[in-house]
Amino acid sequence: MSHFESHIEQIIATLRDEQALRTLTPIAALADGRYSLLADEPQQPLVNLNSNDYLALHDATCHFAGETDLTNSLERLSAKELGSTSSRLLSGDRKEMHQLEQCIAHSLRHESALLFNSGYHANAGILPALKLPGMVVLADKLIHASMIDGIRLSGLPFERFRHNDVTNLQRLIEKHHSSESCQHIIVMAESIYSMDGDLAPLQAFVDLKRAYPKVALYIDEAHAIGVRGAHGYGLCEELGLLSEIDLLVGTFGKALGSMGAYVACSEAVRTLLITRCRSLIYSTMLPPIIVQWILAIWQALPTFSGRRAHLLSLQQELAKQLATLPSQIVPTPESHILPIICGSRERARALAQALLHEGYFIRPIMSPTVPVGSERLRISLTAGLTSSDVKRLCQVILAHLA
Ligand SMILES: Cc1ncc(COP(=O)(O)O)c(C=O)c1O
Repeated sequence: MSHFESHIEQIIATLRDEQALRTLTPIAALADGRYSLLADEPQQPLVNLNSNDYLALHDATCHFAGETDLTNSLERLSAKELGSTSSRLLSGDRKEMHQLEQCIAHSLRHESALLFNSGYHANAGILPALKLPGMVVLADKLIHASMIDGIRLSGLPFERFRHNDVTNLQRLIEKHHSSESCQHIIVMAESIYSMDGDLAPLQAFVDLKRAYPKVALYIDEAHAIGVRGAHGYGLCEELGLLSEIDLLVGTFGKALGSMGAYVACSEAVRTLLITRCRSLIYSTMLPPIIVQWILAIWQALPTFSGRRAHLLSLQQELAKQLATLPSQIVPTPESHILPIICGSRERARALAQALLHEGYFIRPIMSPTVPVGSERLRISLTAGLTSSDVKRLCQVILAHLA
């Protein structure tokens, strides 16, 4: 074995001893949000609680009353190109990409929008491209790793404010705002937090932006787009704040059941991103067939109100059933994502195992993805689940934690 390989083996052995080794398990999608853990030997179907496919759109044959029938759109895709051939700046650009951007900009009440290959590409690329002299970043303590990577790649000075703590944020804004060298303060947050499912105080952020003119808001709606708002345009739509957010990011890989991402922004920001954003310039664009599909989904989003209502009823059922547990273990649900804080890797694994025995597939979330001591199960509800799935799930959790 080469020196290089033996060093890698040593690191793997240490990680295995620490139970910190991450592994992959191929699973098979069955139907109705059910999965088999062993792709080659379908066994008892498991209810998938790890999925970000919140509207259950991965299965285009499942219908809710009154919504656009996507099977026609799916049939029309078959003749389209499977590959985009290059970066958008070479020969990867297509009419439907501009059409999708215009739809997104219009829906989200922004001048413009720009597509990305994923939420990771968007968040890693946006800040480095928009870096300006005198810019400072203030980021919520719990923002997603992709946003952190964007900050790091930008090399901009940054501080973290306590999670959802507006007073703490305001104190930091005041400190920088009064300094002559500071020209721009970018406040970064998610609208629904991926690991905690709680909501950002978006109205308070907008109030701060109004009070402090150097502030610009960068909000990631990855877990809210499709799910919240009367038309499914996210929590900013629900709160009437769409046009207040300078950089409004969202992804297609979660509730929209596909892949890719967007930022809704001004025309000037889009122009600068096209010229400077490395994750856009130096990466092959999404396949046109995928973009066509996202366009069909985006146009149908307002019609998915039945799925959103069902998801909300599942969330309410979950809240009702688990209301007796202490809030340090199960916080009051604010969205379709609910953490069960187990407090250690072992306890998180044991609960996941107990749920597996009862037909629920949920992977524990370990540190460093979440802080040490807050290892958890992250229940992620989707519109493909039933009320009895949720009731039985709660019985297993309550019995295990009793
Ligand atoms: C808040 C947030 N932003 C961005 C991403 C990355 O999105 P994508 O999966 O499209 O790369 C995620 C993924 O989990 C996320 O939770």
